[in-house]
Amino acid sequence: MPSCSSPITNHNQLNLLAEEREIPKKLTEEEFGLLKEAGYSDKAIEFYMNEVNVGSIEKPDVAIAYTGPCGDMMKIYLKISKNDVIEDAKFYYLGCPSAASSGSAITKLIIGKTIEEAKRITEQDVLKELGGLPESKLHCPKLALTTLQKAIAKYEKDKGQQGV
Ligand code: FES
Repeated sequence: MPSCSSPITNHNQLNLLAEEREIPKKLTEEEFGLLKEAGYSDKAIEFYMNEVNVGSIEKPDVAIAYTGPCGDMMKIYLKISKNDVIEDAKFYYLGCPSAASSGSAITKLIIGKTIEEAKRITEQDVLKELGGLPESKLHCPKLALTTLQKAIAKYEKDKGQQGV
């Protein structure tokens, strides 16, 4: 298990973690009701259940993993065009359903946007896209946002070093 706030650099370790995730393919009515009761919106549940944009990108322009203060981890992969448009975005996570929903929401928000536009995305934008999370889970979009910000910073650093 990765230690808190330390990035995971071993890709095999991360893939193993992703494979070990146990996500139910279908919620029972009772389970769905419990999530709704807890404060998850239909959209947040749908993102979680359908694993929207969960996965990886072969030969990404940037990929970075981050473990947040809560101990949950996310890795974001971005495919970026020469003129800095995010053409594709995927993520892996090890964490709560809100981490999953937030990863889906943020990747949906950034696909088709420029790097500069993606930099302006806020936690509120992610929450708005989700349509509602339980009160105790309102911090979870920060995991996705911080991972995205780190990915963008790495992309810009790498690009700068290449002198592009
Ligand atoms: Fe860590 Fe939800 S508790 S992202």
